[in-house]
Amino acid sequence: MRLDKYVSLCKKATRSETKKFIRQGNITVNGVVAKKSDMQVDENSVLVCINGEELSYRKYIYLMLNKPAGYISATYDAHQKTIMELIPDEYLHFELFPVGRLDIDTEGLLILTNDGKFAHDLTSPRKHVYKTYYAELDKPMQQGDIEIFKKGIKLDADFTTLPAELYIDENPKRVYIKICEGKFHQVKRMCESVGKKVMYLKRIRIGGLSLDPDLPKGGVRELSGKELRLLTNSNE
Ligand code: URA
Repeated sequence: MRLDKYVSLCKKATRSETKKFIRQGNITVNGVVAKKSDMQVDENSVLVCINGEELSYRKYIYLMLNKPAGYISATYDAHQKTIMELIPDEYLHFELFPVGRLDIDTEGLLILTNDGKFAHDLTSPRKHVYKTYYAELDKPMQQGDIEIFKKGIKLDADFTTLPAELYIDENPKRVYIKICEGKFHQVKRMCESVGKKVMYLKRIRIGGLSLDPDLPKGGVRELSGKELRLLTNSNE
């Protein structure tokens, strides 16, 4: 890999900043002052320092976003604001994409990464990773609806949901719904099928990972190793 790419992936500098560091003789590669930003380095073994500070290379990155309403879960859109506008500049060179989608008006837990296999494992219906949503409805949910959700709901001619869990709050217009698929508008359509309209929707959990209550709306932070394992190892 080129030295300037390596340095930018370590998020210490952009490519043009890297060139400047090199001109100033501030970057060493395996102890030798670097002369060219396009020199090839082996990312698995090289030791690069900027002003004596060692860089640590990471290929993949995993972010938690507390998505606000009003942003679409896409990396580009000609007309609407995308979640990428919420991502701090220091992460943009990682070529991130959202793991699954939330509707424009849905809030809450969204993971972004550049790790395709990880994203696939989290979204594949075959992996059965549960997602939990909090919803506010126009009408009270009924106890009988719990059984309907549990059996799976036929949403159209060729799609019936897998069994889903429905928890009704003390205020029956507030519910928690746990599903392990992610079809278009799935939660809204499931609620509509029992005669209730979703007025507000927020994803609060994926697998064993809950939305960080201290992360403000629109806030982004990296996932810890422990949180990553909660996402991928859990079927809660
Ligand atoms: N189900 C929905 O209806 N909308 C979402 O954004 C996510 C799940």
